Amino acid sequence: MTFPRDRLIVALDVPSVEEAEALIETLGDDVGVYKIGIELLFSGGFALAQELARRECPVFIDAKLLDIEATVERATAAIARIGAAFLTVHALDKKTLAAAVRGRGDSPLKLLGVTVLTNLSPCDVIEQGIDHPLAELVLHRAKLAKEAGFDGVIASGHEAAQIRKALGPDFLIVTPGVRPQGSDTQDQARAVTPRSAIEAGADYLVVGRPITRAADPRAAASAIVAEIAAALSR
Ligand code: C5P
Repeated sequence: MTFPRDRLIVALDVPSVEEAEALIETLGDDVGVYKIGIELLFSGGFALAQELARRECPVFIDAKLLDIEATVERATAAIARIGAAFLTVHALDKKTLAAAVRGRGDSPLKLLGVTVLTNLSPCDVIEQGIDHPLAELVLHRAKLAKEAGFDGVIASGHEAAQIRKALGPDFLIVTPGVRPQGSDTQDQARAVTPRSAIEAGADYLVVGRPITRAADPRAAASAIVAEIAAALSR
């Protein structure tokens, strides 16, 4: 990653390919990676991902796979075939993770394990019947992902520092739930500012609504890139 903007992943959480294309047109070079999640994937987004990959624009398929091994392996292989740069898989168990690694084969697709979704609070984790403190659970799942051969994890800025310390400098930490100071956290329970995420060791920031719903998305993206640059230079 050469430039601070390479670390910005914009979540194209919009209902149509036309709206996604308009955002890409507006944001242009201010963004390193475009993320296509399940809303857009079910609205023509897979074809858009193929087109972006064909244009050599790094594309992140946020499919959050979790299924039996044969299905995860074949779905991962299908996503690797279009030339996607990143794919998410839930880091819940070794079978799922190993299946994704087999499906990726020798393609350059980077696999990211979802640890604990950033909209969940410690109470939500207890509600799932899990006794471990949230931070321990995140670290446990990150270790599972690393041992399986994943390139990194999705984790909030609250847990990034402990993952970095435990799993070393080369394991990717991708942080969603990023909110510039003073902005609405919406449904994100473990939000952090761009500066805090980078200082905690995040390699990439995933930002959706603070950019895509801004009155001026390009200005919002530029401000976040400037905050990333300032945090990196500290
Ligand atoms: O709009 P906002 O910035 O909250 O969007 C965050 C994006 O990151 C969404 O596309 C969401 O699906 C994704 N994400 C997340 N938390 C995770 C994994 C992915 O918010 N743990």
